[in-house]
Amino acid sequence: MGRLVVVSNRIALPDHSKNGAGGLAVGLLDALQEQGGLWFGWNGEIREITGEDEPLYTEQDKNITYAACSLTQNDYDLYYSQFSNTVIWPAFHYRLDLVEYQREAWEGYLRVNQMLAEKLYPLLQHNDVIWVHDYHLLPFAAALRLHQVKQPLGFFLHIPFPAPEVLMALPDYQEILRLMTAYDLLGFQTERDAQAFLSAITQETDVVTVEKGIYQAYGNTFHLHDYPIGVDPDSISKLAQGPLPPKMQAIRKELGDAKNIIACERLDYSKGIPERFLAYESFLEKYPEQRGNIRYTQIAPTSRGEVQAYQAIRHQLETETGRINGKYGTMSWTPLYYLNQHFDRRLLMKIFRLTDIALITPLRDGMNLVAKEYLAAQDPADPGVLILSKFAGAACELTEALLVNPYDRDEVARAIYQAITMSQSERVDRHAKMMAILQHQTITRWRETFLDDLYQILE
Ligand code: F6P
Repeated sequence: MGRLVVVSNRIALPDHSKNGAGGLAVGLLDALQEQGGLWFGWNGEIREITGEDEPLYTEQDKNITYAACSLTQNDYDLYYSQFSNTVIWPAFHYRLDLVEYQREAWEGYLRVNQMLAEKLYPLLQHNDVIWVHDYHLLPFAAALRLHQVKQPLGFFLHIPFPAPEVLMALPDYQEILRLMTAYDLLGFQTERDAQAFLSAITQETDVVTVEKGIYQAYGNTFHLHDYPIGVDPDSISKLAQGPLPPKMQAIRKELGDAKNIIACERLDYSKGIPERFLAYESFLEKYPEQRGNIRYTQIAPTSRGEVQAYQAIRHQLETETGRINGKYGTMSWTPLYYLNQHFDRRLLMKIFRLTDIALITPLRDGMNLVAKEYLAAQDPADPGVLILSKFAGAACELTEALLVNPYDRDEVARAIYQAITMSQSERVDRHAKMMAILQHQTITRWRETFLDDLYQILE
């Protein structure tokens, strides 16, 4: 078996890994560790333009080589902030109103993909298998193929793939589809995403079905499948039950006897946080007797802060928090806590275990691993309730959650009421059914299934 080469926009360098790293990084690190490998990507730094080619930053940690490069400010702006996060991200999350298309950004996106491919190419060995991640790198395989790279190339899209009529709003969508077919294996979070890709491409060109899941288009043969990403429920459960840091005693006290709602995500408009605040307000209006007995904590660390739409939503949340607390709070009760801060994952899992309800209502989401982490962190004998948007990929599997339409405030308000009044036996029952799914579809199974399929392409 050859080396595994993982390519992603950001890479988790060794000093950030394992303990503090998220589940995905840990899942990938385990695979790289087991079979030996290379992790290649951007090191998160911006460099000065010196006119000289900057050497790659490399690091060896046991079985894994890390190779990373920095970006110039111009590359970062065009490739990352503009095309990745102001064109693809909003469009793929159905927010065409937030797309700001510029041809210069598209060209920068292609150029940076080519630059990254050029840097990776000399590091490749003939029997490597290459696994590329996410929307920053849709054209990466095509860029590598220009160097006659013959190794199998797999791609996994962590975010949703939009319906064709949404995709078609992007001026370069045909080129995006064509470039994506340079991968040998295209993996999506759900069958809905994989089908959306297939119908978009079928509308554009002649697609030959070799067999179910294997297609030919634009002179390329590619495999297409869904691989719902999972978590490692056992390690999350351990983190959630682990020794309580001193900080935790204070948090436990602050949470008090009220019913506690928790939500945690990057501050992103796709997560539906302002809509959720309004749904919580509807709950306070509809069930006034519950005021004083409930507390909603929203953790949302700033993300992509240089992009205008992210600055706007941050201001919106600050305003809404003040308005809701000003309107409903009393001298002794604050209904909504909004924490624009990063929380250590180990602490977060403990907080999840102490809370009664997770309110996870993205307007669109590829999967939503927080929903799965919340479930895994619970005490199975007395678990909390998951309220989940039907537009998160996780809703395809977690049908025992209280599934809601995040745009429907009344429905979300009713779900909060249902959650706080749900009997313990119903909570236990729903939780157990969802845990069985989580135990089956783990992060390990996700990567093993994907890699098995990719290795089979070799045979
Ligand atoms: O959800 C897509 C994703 O790329 C995740 O894989 C990642 O955790 C997150 O976005 C981080 O975004 P950024 O690198 O822009 O901060």
